Amino acid sequence: MDKLQISTSGPLKGEVNISGAKNASLPILAATLLADGIMTIENVPHLKDVTTMLGLLGRMGVELTVDESTHIDIDPTRIQRFVAPYDLVKTMRASILVLGPMLARYGEAEVSLPGGCAIGSRPVNLHIEGLQRMGAQISVEGGYIRARAKRLKGATINLDIVTVTGTENLLMAATLAEGTTVIENAAREPEVVDLANCLIAMGAKIEGAGSATIRIQGVSSLQGCRYRVLPDRIETGTFLVAAAMTRGHVKTKNTCAHELDAVLLKLQEAGADISRGEDWIELDMHGQRPRAVDIHTAPYPAFPTDMQAQFTALNAVAEGVGTITETVFENRFMHAQELRRMGADISLEHNTAIIRGVEKLVAAPVMATDLRASASLIVAGLVAEGDTVVDRIYHLDRGYECIEEKLQALGARIRRIH
Ligand code: EPU
Repeated sequence: MDKLQISTSGPLKGEVNISGAKNASLPILAATLLADGIMTIENVPHLKDVTTMLGLLGRMGVELTVDESTHIDIDPTRIQRFVAPYDLVKTMRASILVLGPMLARYGEAEVSLPGGCAIGSRPVNLHIEGLQRMGAQISVEGGYIRARAKRLKGATINLDIVTVTGTENLLMAATLAEGTTVIENAAREPEVVDLANCLIAMGAKIEGAGSATIRIQGVSSLQGCRYRVLPDRIETGTFLVAAAMTRGHVKTKNTCAHELDAVLLKLQEAGADISRGEDWIELDMHGQRPRAVDIHTAPYPAFPTDMQAQFTALNAVAEGVGTITETVFENRFMHAQELRRMGADISLEHNTAIIRGVEKLVAAPVMATDLRASASLIVAGLVAEGDTVVDRIYHLDRGYECIEEKLQALGARIRRIH
C-alpha cells in the first residue's frame, strides 16, 4: 500500500493551479443520468472518487469517453441496469447521488444503503423521506434502498437538517417531476449551485439555488449539454493553509475567491496577508508564525467542515491557543489523535478541540483516517522536524489531484513510497 513521506520543508513559494471540484463533479456526473442526449463535462479532476462514479455509471450501461484533458463525454441513453451495488457504495458514499436521477428518469432505482463512516454515522433518511414526499414507493431491504415511482410529483420538502447531497438528490429528482417542488432549508454550498447551473443548461427550471429555498418547476425531459465544473474550494483552502503553516507565499490560480470568504477571514486572523482577484488568491505570511484561531464549522456560507482538520494542524503550530468546534459531523477529530503523535497539544471536549500551539512538531509514522484528515497530516508533516510517513493515503487519492506534484512545485519535500 502506498505511503507518503514528507520531510521538513521551508516556506512554500510559487503558484498552484486548482483542479475542478470533487464535490461538484460527483453530483454533476450523477445528473447526466437525467439527460436524453450526450453530456460533455469539463474540468473533472482525476480522482479515485470520480473513477468510482464513472465505474458506477459504466456498470449501469452508460457509455463514457474520458480524454486526457479532463473532458468526459457521457451517453446515458443506453442505461440498462438501475442498481448501485454495495461494492461501489461502500467505497464511496456519494454513490447515493444516483438515486434521485435514476428514479426520476427511469422510475426505478436500487441503491445500496451506505453504512457509517470514519467521520460520523451519516444517515440518508432525508434523501429517502424527500423522495417519498414526491410520491416514491421506497423500501429498505437487504441493505438496499429500493425505490419506484411512475412519475414523481412536485412537493414542498422542508429539510430538518441542512444536507448537501440530500439537497442535490432531491433537486435532481425534482427536475423531471410533475409540477413544482420547493426545497426549504436547502444547502447553499457552491457545489449545489454548480449542479443547479448544469441542470439549467440541460433545460431544467430552477430558481433560488444558493439560497435556503430552491424552487423547481418540473419539465418532461432534459437534453445533453456541455458543462464546466467549478474549481475546488477545499483544495484551494488546503494549499493556502500549507502556505500559512510554512510561513510561505503562495498564489492559487483558477479558483473562485468569493467561495472561500469564511476561510480567508480565518487565515487573515492567523496573520496572513491575503490579496485576491475573481479567480486567484495570494497568501503571504512574510515569514511570520501563524497565530491560533477559533473556528466553528457549519453549513455554507459559514466555515466548512472540510477545512476543519487542516486548521487543527495550523493551530497545532500557531502562537497561542485556538478552539475548533465541529457542528456538522459528530466524529470528525480522528486526525487529532494522529497529530498528537507528532507532538501537538490537543485536548478534546465533546465536539470541541482545544489546541495549544507548540514551537515544533516532530515527525512520526501516522495514519490517514479520512480524506481531510490526510490533508491535515500532510501539512503538519511539512513543518515537523524529520521525516513524517503517512499511511493509508488512499483516502487522499480520493479527493486531491496530484497533491505531491503540486506541493513539490511549491518547494515541499514530499514523495510517494510504493
Ligand atoms: N444528515 C442526516 N440525514 C440525512 C443526511 C444528512 O442526518 O439524510 C446529517 C449528516 O449525518 C451530517 C449532516 O446532516 O451530520 C450534514 O451532512 P451532509 O448530508 O450535508 O453531508 P454529505 O452530503 O454526505 C457532503 C460532502 C462532504 C462534506 C459535507 C458537509 C459530497 C460528496 N460530500 O457530504 O464532503 O463534508 O457535505 O459539507 O458533497 C469531503 O469532501 O471530504 C466530504 C466529506
